[in-house]
Amino acid sequence: VPEVYLDHAATSPLRRVAVEAYLTAAAVTGNASATHRAGRAARGVAENARQEVADSLGCHPEDVIFTSGGTEADNLGLFGLFRARHGDDPRRRRILVTAVEHSAVTGTAAALQAREDAIVDVLPVGTDGRVDPDRVDAALAAGPGSVALVACIWAGNEVGTVQPVAEVVAAAHRAGVPVHVDAVQAVGTLPVDVVALGADTVAVSGHKVGGPIRSGALLVRPGTVLEPLLHGGGHERGLRPGTLDVPGFAGFAAALVEAVHARPVEAVRLGALRDRLLGGVVAAVPGARPTAPDAPRLPSIAHLTFPRCDGESLLFLLDDAGIAASAGSACHAGLLRPSPVLLAMGRPSAEARTGVRFSFGHTSTDGDVDAVLAVIGEVALRAEAAAGVAA
Ligand SMILES: Cc1ncc(COP(=O)(O)O)c(C=O)c1O
Repeated sequence: VPEVYLDHAATSPLRRVAVEAYLTAAAVTGNASATHRAGRAARGVAENARQEVADSLGCHPEDVIFTSGGTEADNLGLFGLFRARHGDDPRRRRILVTAVEHSAVTGTAAALQAREDAIVDVLPVGTDGRVDPDRVDAALAAGPGSVALVACIWAGNEVGTVQPVAEVVAAAHRAGVPVHVDAVQAVGTLPVDVVALGADTVAVSGHKVGGPIRSGALLVRPGTVLEPLLHGGGHERGLRPGTLDVPGFAGFAAALVEAVHARPVEAVRLGALRDRLLGGVVAAVPGARPTAPDAPRLPSIAHLTFPRCDGESLLFLLDDAGIAASAGSACHAGLLRPSPVLLAMGRPSAEARTGVRFSFGHTSTDGDVDAVLAVIGEVALRAEAAAGVAA
């Protein structure tokens, strides 16, 4: 069975440079907070990684707060901003979140509503999956003093739709409200310049760009006040206490440097793979429907729905053929639930159960697309039969 890995948006294979940087850093003995020579050596590796992350993403090294990944960065951004803003003024209770956030943001917003006096207001998206910045303006105009923060994903992890994040940030800032941006899927696939974007907190993750799982960072705009989630020592400007994971930082930074450097060429290459896959699947499978193909979207994600098929069977049969794809978000893969993202885009719930995401990255090749196109017609026929609507 050929192994065709088309699930880079879930996790991308470790890059060799990341393994090497990780292992080299792991051989450095010393707690990076210690003042002796060994500690200073470890600190040097950590600060070098911080500088590389900052240079790759267009921010200052002081803005980089290393975390255990994207989920923790989203939690720190939302909890941190909410507690600081609400603590200053308890009337600031509303959190405006787009309808297409990752569960790391929706779950955190739900926890804030359940336990911290927050009220979650969902910003709807159009059938193209995009939020309209005018809706953000309108939601803020209804009472800017009642809004604690806005959360807007940069590029969706499921369909890959790119949001008008700069306009959303501008709208929120006009009302004096901070913005958290989840840039986990944008990094390595879109040009990312954090200072130019101007968002107050930005979440990034290592393993989506070929770094170690459980690495990542929250990028915090200078002057932004955040309450830490964890308490302890003063590490990471007091925002993320705990002994520095120096090898993790180094592996993450090395992967990020390579991914960002390769991005302009890779974006073109992966976009061509995506388009060839979409065109081939549409030709082979009656009823297959690329999701919002006219909206700005990531070059690395090909997303389709197969309204005549049983969604779970599709993924199972693809897996059986040696092809790793996804229902869109690993968090609900395997569960026959309609995708909240597709529902938010106005898709009927039956169709919203049939989304398939093929996502590309640094190891993807034309051969991967060939492998999908070789089997997709047969796979879809069988998944149609499973849905009980075979012709
Ligand atoms: C958009 C988005 N945000 C956050 C996360 C969570 O990142 P991590 O797996 O590093 O916790 C993911 C990964 O699933 C993601 O795709």
